[in-house]
Amino acid sequence: MKALVLSGGRGTRLRPLTHTMAKQLVPVANQPILGYVMDHLKEAAIKETGVIVAPETQEEVREYLGDGSKWDLKINYIVQDRPLGLAHAVKTARSFLGDDKFVMYLGDNLLGKGIKDAIEKFSRSDSHCMIFLKKVQDPRAFGVAKLDEDGNIVGLVEKPKEPPSDLALVGVYLFSPVIHEAIDSIKPSWRGELEITDAIQALIQKGYKVQGEILESWWLDTGKKDDFLAANTTVLDEYVRRSIEGEVDEESNIEGRVRIEEDAIVQKSTIRGPVIIGKNARVENSFIGPYSSIGDESVIKDSVIEHVVILERSKVFGVVRLEDSLIGRDATVKKANSLRGALRLMIGDHSQVEI
Ligand code: TTP
Repeated sequence: MKALVLSGGRGTRLRPLTHTMAKQLVPVANQPILGYVMDHLKEAAIKETGVIVAPETQEEVREYLGDGSKWDLKINYIVQDRPLGLAHAVKTARSFLGDDKFVMYLGDNLLGKGIKDAIEKFSRSDSHCMIFLKKVQDPRAFGVAKLDEDGNIVGLVEKPKEPPSDLALVGVYLFSPVIHEAIDSIKPSWRGELEITDAIQALIQKGYKVQGEILESWWLDTGKKDDFLAANTTVLDEYVRRSIEGEVDEESNIEGRVRIEEDAIVQKSTIRGPVIIGKNARVENSFIGPYSSIGDESVIKDSVIEHVVILERSKVFGVVRLEDSLIGRDATVKKANSLRGALRLMIGDHSQVEI
């Protein structure tokens, strides 16, 4: 069994962060999303992985994943010149995949539980494809499965106006090599992409067995700011254990599950978990409320923040209350010393500011 991780694409919905970084490398609870994907592949004892990369972001993806030895596997990088669809990505990886079964994992999806059991089940079964399904409140934004009375998958629809069920397709797919034949038989959709849902639909029509597996754990697609903050909240809730490696002075209060990493400094502050403070970060005379992640080398001074994700090397100075926010790398947010309360901003492309 091989793996194909999709780490290309445009990431338009997570701009401006994705102007300067691959969306799969945006950190959730201070670890790039791609890191959680690779952890799941390692746990499932996958040894050979193809990673689809885009020409614009391939360098940083390669730098983060390296040769894969950190996860006990070997990585083959495959450049997809343009993001022409998930099925196009599989087509691009055709020679790497050969005639093996494989798991395709979208590099921006986070799953609460690994995929080891599902892979074992698929290896033993006579199914040609296994897809994961999750009940969602509004299925219109997803690929949705149509089931018969016995729960068998009879069809798939991409972003339907009138969803045939509330079961959305999760970003992990298991395939036997017959999928290549199905991909060769489909045409690009109205949005110009070769859709994996169309290829799976073609498998069903040709009489191949497509199995659905309801995902019990949580699943997060980190596409937009609010989804991304929700992902950070869930992951902090789930994984953060109290661990204090940095330096905390006597005037500070650390409450609950707070991880303070090496060489971080906390002075005259209260931190209420779940919270992560990254390496070499500094928190001074501030309150950091639940569900916040402070990236490595960031500095928070004279501020109150809650439910905020701050990436690496950013500064927040003198901000009385900052909530539900996402701040990129090397950014500064500070109180203006203006008598008339005027604001002074320098905002990058596609930013959003609520004042
Ligand atoms: P999407 O989120 O569907 O696409 P995108 O990254 O272009 O995002 P946006 O809509 O915000 O512009 O892609 C799901 C995953 O698959 C994501 O990790 C990117 C990856 N992908 C590829 O590697 N190649 C592709 O051709 C496409 C469409 C996506």
